[in-house]
Amino acid sequence: MKGLILAGGAGTRLYPVTSAVSKQMLPIYDKPMLYYPLATLMQAGIREILIISTSEDLPRFTKMLGDGSAFGIRLSYLEQPSPDGLAQAFLLGEDFIEDDSCALILGDNIFCGKDLKTRTQEAGENAEKGIATLFCRSVSDPERFGIAVIDENGKVVSLEEKPAHPQSHYAVTGLYFYPAGVAEKAKKVKPSERGELEITSLNEFYMQEQQLSVQLLDEGFEWFDTGTFESLYEASGYIRNRQQSQHTEIAALEAIAYQNGWISKKQLLEAAKQYRDSSYGKYLKRIAESVRQYE
Ligand code: DAU
Repeated sequence: MKGLILAGGAGTRLYPVTSAVSKQMLPIYDKPMLYYPLATLMQAGIREILIISTSEDLPRFTKMLGDGSAFGIRLSYLEQPSPDGLAQAFLLGEDFIEDDSCALILGDNIFCGKDLKTRTQEAGENAEKGIATLFCRSVSDPERFGIAVIDENGKVVSLEEKPAHPQSHYAVTGLYFYPAGVAEKAKKVKPSERGELEITSLNEFYMQEQQLSVQLLDEGFEWFDTGTFESLYEASGYIRNRQQSQHTEIAALEAIAYQNGWISKKQLLEAAKQYRDSSYGKYLKRIAESVRQYE
């Protein structure tokens, strides 16, 4: 399975902060925003990942993450010339995806929950069987999101992008799993009234073909779409509290790689050294010294 991270856009809602800095490089407590969606894909077991962004931001991401070998993965980068919609990721990424199934995560979406790994791996298995998966979460401001109406059997019966009069409070979050052939389907999406290739239109195809499943992110699960100052602040506070109360580091990429058996203890210790005396570096060292070894 391949992974795409869509991390473009101008971040205008975060001006003036983002007037010269990429939104996805902003700190969510103690790590750049992009670490979190990357960690989510890695936890799902995905090792080949394409980061799609603007020509201005790609060199910054490349500098930050390199070719991915430090995390036991392969990273590639691709420009999106203009922000023409989320479904465009599959058109741009067609050659990268080849005949594989594919997950897409938005660069400003942060997911935290203890069974995230199991849930995403399940979605990956479904994708191999031809079924797409959406992750939905109950929200108080449904007009801001793609909204799913879900029946009593847990089936998605309707999808709407930012409805003025929402029929449900279930937001479709920015994490999507699709079977092989998603690029072909994305080619059939027509631009919406606002001129974008909407991911909601792509998801509607899967719904109409009865190839769409949904996972509800309920209690014990947090999801942040960090597109506003309020949500940035909230996400940072949440990560800080959880890390401090559980003595952990969320989205520590090298630690995930080590736990997945993708890098050795020696590599993890070398990475820890590079982060010097930061809490991130100390955490990597602790993991290297405490977790089962994969040599
Ligand atoms: O966060 C979940 C929501 O994401 C979903 O509920 C909606 O269905 C979906 O349309 C999307 O809504 P947003 O209003 O959050 O989308 P936005 O245009 O803000 O884009 C989300 C991220 O993707 C943002 O970081 C910028 C990036 N992006 C967006 C577009 C349209 C790109 O990199 N390229 C693009 O073409």
